[in-house]
Amino acid sequence: MHPSASVPVNATPSLPSVPAPATASRLAGVASSPVREILALTARPEVISFAGGLPAPELFDTEGIRAAYDRVLTENPRAALQYSTTEGDPELRTAVAARLTARELPTEADDLLVTTGSQQALTLLTTALVEPGDVVLVEDPCYLAALQTFGFAGARVVPVPTDDQGIVPEALEEIAARENATLLYLVPTFQNPTGRTLPAERRHAVAEAAARHGFWIVEDDPYGELRYDGERVPPSPPTPPRPTAPSCSAPSPR
Ligand SMILES: Cc1ncc(COP(=O)(O)O)c(C=O)c1O
Repeated sequence: MHPSASVPVNATPSLPSVPAPATASRLAGVASSPVREILALTARPEVISFAGGLPAPELFDTEGIRAAYDRVLTENPRAALQYSTTEGDPELRTAVAARLTARELPTEADDLLVTTGSQQALTLLTTALVEPGDVVLVEDPCYLAALQTFGFAGARVVPVPTDDQGIVPEALEEIAARENATLLYLVPTFQNPTGRTLPAERRHAVAEAAARHGFWIVEDDPYGELRYDGERVPPSPPTPPRPTAPSCSAPSPR
């Protein structure tokens, strides 16, 4: 009898199968995403989790957001729904530049690239600035999702001690001198997870350390506009002749 005679008429013939390649080596040792785990927990109605910085939903400006969507979709629907330039909508960039300039960080629209959040900005910056094996300095403790980005890039993450006022400039100085760092990741205002704000003198000291040792400062500022009292601490201007330090800010932090 012909072998195929025993196979039912509609059955798929079995094909030789070769296993798919392993996942990329940058995933080695990555069991999960800490943020994904935190959010999975906070999605459970019976859990009140203090692990993630979720805003109070009753404070969401649903009316204002609805009105903004209505206005854009009424006035300019085709442009609003079409692809834009990679850098982002020019009007938005102009408005953000004016806002940053008013907050004492002189910025032109051309200096800006709009992303879908800090996480995308961190990934782009890390891709552009960090080689595998490079040293990335972070505050100790540090925002979890940033650590994951640096891990994926193959960076060697080195924690810098902090105290009640944030990163300790003397410790930064010593570690930067020893480690030949590429980049310092900093959340200077209402840091996650400590909530601490770096005073102006320390911001200057950090900028000077960057100029002296030649590393980038990536400043993440999702919470800088959420102050209820006290004085806003101005950003320290990039120290010439360093190139402008990249920074990312998320207007609506999680
Ligand atoms: C320091 C910091 N950066 C970024 C984010 C999140 O930013 P995004 O949702 O825009 O990626 C958070 C949210 O917890 C944060 O605390």
